[in-house]
Amino acid sequence: MSDTLLEIKDLNIVYKTDEETVHAVNGIRLRVGTKETLGLVGETGAGKTTTALAIMRLLPDRIGKIEGGEILFDGKNLLELKENEMRGIRGQEIAMIFQDPMTSLNPVLTVEDQILEVLKIHNHSNQSKEELGKRVEEMLELVGIPAVRKSCYPHEFSGGMKQRVVIAMALACNPRLLIAADRPDAAESGSRRGGYSGIRSGRSKGPSGGGWLS
Ligand SMILES: Nc1ncnc2c1ncn2[C@@H]1O[C@H](COP(=O)(O)OP(=O)(O)OP(=O)(O)O)[C@@H](O)[C@H]1O
Ligand SMILES: [Mg+2]
Repeated sequence: MSDTLLEIKDLNIVYKTDEETVHAVNGIRLRVGTKETLGLVGETGAGKTTTALAIMRLLPDRIGKIEGGEILFDGKNLLELKENEMRGIRGQEIAMIFQDPMTSLNPVLTVEDQILEVLKIHNHSNQSKEELGKRVEEMLELVGIPAVRKSCYPHEFSGGMKQRVVIAMALACNPRLLIAADRPDAAESGSRRGGYSGIRSGRSKGPSGGGWLS
């Protein structure tokens, strides 16, 4: 297996609306190794989120168009996969964390139930209820949340802690690539390092895999 997990070649993306055509991404090239974390920095509007959405093939229908280039994940061009093949990769091999944790968390479920839900979807080795429950606690500890707080609801956590629950959910399915589409610590005012260290410690204990922060 090659040590390149993700390679983007000459990617061009435009947004076409009735009013205008925006050339959002113009010939970007990048490579993420299997054990690497890549930070993509750029001024607002530079195309970071657009690139992340393109990797997940989640660009807005009809408006967002990939006009050229390749997105190679483990050597496979994601742009050539059928939608059902892509569904097997999304969430499972490539996970994405969105900017606002409240769009990813359900306010009426405890964080334990929400992480369990993810683990159940990806429970290919048929782990028992007890094993999954233990894994929930591990995932929380991994991102720096004491396991005893698993019965809490999202509103009982600070913004930064909510963000870490989202990270725990994303890591729960052992993705090979984790994309944080925007600063994962954005909600944590005052402490700009919380989100990143949550991902770092989470990943260092998980299986090998690249990550990508932008
Ligand atoms: N749905 C859309 N329709 C039309 N244009 C869009 C759409 N989404 C993004 N754009 C445009 O595409 C360009 C790239 O936007 P994008 O959100 O990828 O930038 P970004 O690097 O993530 O910025 P930020 O740092 O502010 O998050 C911008 O000019 C933006 O206005
Ligand atoms: Mg963005």
